[in-house]
Amino acid sequence: MSGPVPSAWDLLRRRCEDCRACGLSETRTNVVFGVGKQDSPILFVGEGPGQQEDLQGEPFVGAAGKLLDEMLSIIDLGRDNCYIANVVKCRPPGNRDPREEEQAACAEYLQEQIRLIQPKLIICLGRIAAGVLIRRDFRITREHGKWTKRDGVWYTAIYHPSALLRDLNRRPETFLDLMNIRDKVREVCPEVWN
Ligand code: URA
Repeated sequence: MSGPVPSAWDLLRRRCEDCRACGLSETRTNVVFGVGKQDSPILFVGEGPGQQEDLQGEPFVGAAGKLLDEMLSIIDLGRDNCYIANVVKCRPPGNRDPREEEQAACAEYLQEQIRLIQPKLIICLGRIAAGVLIRRDFRITREHGKWTKRDGVWYTAIYHPSALLRDLNRRPETFLDLMNIRDKVREVCPEVWN
């Protein structure tokens, strides 16, 4: 058999689509792999697909996604110049938090996405992603907007857009966090805006 050699991205996507490593694979409609610019210096990581994402196979396309798009556009970011992925690639039923064992089963896919993207900034959307990528006991209410550098990569977390839909009081702080992200982009990877 011959044909085009699949890229590392194609192979990873196929592995995710075939994955049966946890129970979420039994209830999913689609694997939600990720979207955006594969060599962007900026990676956003959410928690896991919701209903609309499961149906459409793309991250952040429901109500929270609409808000995320608006948040990103404030600082001239979006799906064309960033990459957006999730901790788990299949929808937890009823939009519950992904369980520890589900996060663990999916961890190698996110790690491989990070290895392929080689981002300079990783922005966690909410407490679950921050717990996986920054620190197990990360406290989103106290630590959102703070930066940590590890192995040459800057990490921060902001409130999850779903939390901002529920609680309008958190929006002013998030606006400041976005301004702070804009400053970090200007410092570390202004080329995203070209
Ligand atoms: N919430 C997430 O964390 N990720 C999505 O893709 C959609 C909603």
